[in-house]
Amino acid sequence: MSRPHALLELNGVTKRFGDLTANDSVSVSVAAGEVVALLGENGAGKSTLMKILYGLVRPDAGGISMNGQPLHIGSPRDAMSAGIGMVTQEFSLVETMTVTENVALSAVGLGIVDTRAARQRVTAAMERIGVDIEPDRLVSTLSLGERQRVEIVKALFHDCRVLILDEPTAVLTPQDVRALFATIDRLRQTGLGVLFVSHKLREVAEISDRVVVLRRGQLVGERVTSEVGVGELAALMMGVKAAAPVGDTAAAVGLPTEASPDAPAAPDRGESTTAQTPALVLTELTLERHGRSIVDAVTLTVQRGEVVGIAGITGNGQTELMELLCGTEQTTSGRMEVDGVDVTRSDVAGRLAAGLGRLTEDRRGSVVPQLSVEENLVLEDLPTYVRRGLVDRTAIRAHAERLIARFDIVATPAAAVSTLSGGNMQKVLLARALARRPRLLVAAQPTRGLDIGAYQFVHSQLKELRDSGAGLLLISEDLDEMRALCDRIAVLFRGRIVGTLTVEEATSERLGVMMTGEAVPA
Ligand SMILES: Nc1ncnc2c1ncn2[C@@H]1O[C@H](COP(=O)(O)OP(=O)(O)O)[C@@H](O)[C@H]1O
Ligand SMILES: [Mg+2]
Repeated sequence: MSRPHALLELNGVTKRFGDLTANDSVSVSVAAGEVVALLGENGAGKSTLMKILYGLVRPDAGGISMNGQPLHIGSPRDAMSAGIGMVTQEFSLVETMTVTENVALSAVGLGIVDTRAARQRVTAAMERIGVDIEPDRLVSTLSLGERQRVEIVKALFHDCRVLILDEPTAVLTPQDVRALFATIDRLRQTGLGVLFVSHKLREVAEISDRVVVLRRGQLVGERVTSEVGVGELAALMMGVKAAAPVGDTAAAVGLPTEASPDAPAAPDRGESTTAQTPALVLTELTLERHGRSIVDAVTLTVQRGEVVGIAGITGNGQTELMELLCGTEQTTSGRMEVDGVDVTRSDVAGRLAAGLGRLTEDRRGSVVPQLSVEENLVLEDLPTYVRRGLVDRTAIRAHAERLIARFDIVATPAAAVSTLSGGNMQKVLLARALARRPRLLVAAQPTRGLDIGAYQFVHSQLKELRDSGAGLLLISEDLDEMRALCDRIAVLFRGRIVGTLTVEEATSERLGVMMTGEAVPA
């Protein structure tokens, strides 16, 4: 493979955490003016490798060199003085200070700052990379995307030659992603080397010049971006043959192709309801706290066999709406019907009995960690496993074995649920919810943090549930996921639904505009 002369090189870097090898003799390089994507599923070892480069983690073996000269990096300070900057997902800006003050603070430490000179330097730095943020604005008034660009400016202040961006798009709206990519492009043109960490194929394909794929700590492939399809990248990332299941580009990006195991049993429709009864009807559902409407008169219907999404930037009432739906928070006013039954004043158990299923955002909070997988699987139905005053352990075990097989859960029935990986824990929760044959499933961030295999599995199960005639209300920050699953997408802004689009209408641009509350399409 022809490639530009390396600026920065990692050579045979190995890092072990106990028995786990997070990085197994990995070598990666980046040249000046090159954007190298580090692609891999969750847990592949991307962040560890980048933290080693930035002096946050010590490697067990291997070395780092800049322009062929070995570097010793023992701390972020060492990394910065060597010309390496990093923007992590957790921002470190002081909210009550201005943009200039934040950048200057990091540049000179807590000493006295010549504000005017600093302001000029910050403005110049921003202009160079096409960032247009008023330097006197307080950080507290900036959007997440703007904050991230300030972090980039901060990193560049230390004569940065290689910039590491670890999953930079995870928290951004589509517009912010566009602006970030424009900034990355400018950085490339100014001769910076950029290491762009992501598990999102489409982004990697768009922004990088070269892709390095990590799987389970090992470098499993390296490609020139323009010479590779996303299908091949997905296959590398997941460790499957490139041909059949994910060979197709669109399918690989959209992700919903894998054949699913057993379909969940069709919901057992009671005689009381008819095909016309919607799965969910919300009428002016409102939650007030301290005189403020956190959820503000939400009116929404989910038909059977329909998937409705709630999009929005975090903190616009999604969490509270979910609590109202599940009955863990009391409705201030308004009404909620599940499958024709008024559950507005029902507790969680009442709602579950009415046909509600739930998959909440807080997975660890949805299980009892000390209990086993099989016990967690029957947590919501324990009374049905009690025979003559005794818990029927045999029936619980049989139920668990069926679900473990059907949902492809990597665990034994007796294993403590706390020992499960995120993907397997989510499968346990999904199995628990679907085994009850809900008429309405409300799901929040159902695939957050899952690897592609688990992501596809969860999606296939949700689609089967929909096809079997249940309604789905999906709350997610992942717009690709929304578009893959939803028939309609409602946008929540400051607790209110500011508009609802069909999936065809719901382009990133339109959703993004609505998500920032700037405009409501007619
Ligand atoms: N400080 C740590 N202690 C123990 N294990 C860790 C630590 N940091 C990361 N790991 C493990 O190393 C593996 C790679 O993690 P990470 O580098 O964060 O992956 P990625 O960024 O690709 O998602 C994971 O299995 C993770 O659990
Ligand atoms: Mg990571």
